Amino acid sequence: MAYNLLKGKKGLITGALNEQSIAWKIAETVCAEGAQIVLTNTPVSIRFGEVGQLAEKTGSIVIPADATSVEDLENLVDKTMEHFGGPFDFVLHAVGMSPNLRKGRPYDDLNYDFYQKTLDISALSFHKLLQTLYKKDALREWGSVVALSYIAADRAMPGYNDMADAKAVLQSITRNFGLLYARKRHVRINTVSQSPTRTTAGSGIAGMEEMIGYTERFSPLGNASAEDCARYVTTLFSDLTRKVTMQNLYSDGGFSAVLPHPDL
Ligand SMILES: NC(=O)c1ccc[n+]([C@@H]2O[C@H](COP(=O)([O-])OP(=O)(O)OC[C@H]3O[C@@H](n4cnc5c(N)ncnc54)[C@H](O)[C@@H]3O)[C@@H](O)[C@H]2O)c1
Repeated sequence: MAYNLLKGKKGLITGALNEQSIAWKIAETVCAEGAQIVLTNTPVSIRFGEVGQLAEKTGSIVIPADATSVEDLENLVDKTMEHFGGPFDFVLHAVGMSPNLRKGRPYDDLNYDFYQKTLDISALSFHKLLQTLYKKDALREWGSVVALSYIAADRAMPGYNDMADAKAVLQSITRNFGLLYARKRHVRINTVSQSPTRTTAGSGIAGMEEMIGYTERFSPLGNASAEDCARYVTTLFSDLTRKVTMQNLYSDGGFSAVLPHPDL
């Protein structure tokens, strides 16, 4: 059911690769709620992924950008403003990748070039995107920015590897840029910490299937699906959540508040 929550709003969505992507579900949901969007991903993902289909379905355009390149991000923000005829209302950061995870390098045997790439792609890209938006004054008053995080930023857990460090940095950037942007334009910045979800990025994580079963068991409401996450993020882009900023918010069926116990 749609509520027209985002009627008249315009936003930029990163990270939609295929139908499993959390960003894909968010793109569909915000459009169903009346928003207009611009999609972006790396040139290679656009070529080999399915984002073109999503663009067609949602009546949006796709602008290629590597989120680690400030030059690409400047071009992305300029072109997005050109497309919308000025500043826009919301941005989703749904970018993550760890070469150490991909290559099976464990946390006690990290390759440091890979580690830097993990941090650059999954965390610093968020700062680069925010700084570009800020300098170009690309967001409207009371705009909203959301990045996707994971509970391994807050608690030690095996398997998530250097992505845990990247997510911790992501959450810190959210607080520190949130302070600046709230004062400049009343723009709010939050992370949504999502349940483990079967996606291309998710499938690279060691023990992912077991983790999905474990959190399903111990989440009072069960795991949040990508669609659940999309509905939650949509409220954060809406005017209903204007005073929520600099927070890490859980979309996890209550898992983060439960101490796993044999009786559960
Ligand atoms: N799947 C999960 O269990 C889960 C849980 C919590 C948070 N998240 C986070 O959600 C976000 C989206 O991931 P997903 O699970 O939907 O997987 P996904 O693989 O569908 O999305 C990851 C996206 O990152 C993009 N990307 C990678 N490198 C990039 C770069 N240099 N520049 C621009 N884009 C780049 C990929 O092309 C892809 O579209 C990530 O930040 C991920 O860490 C995922």
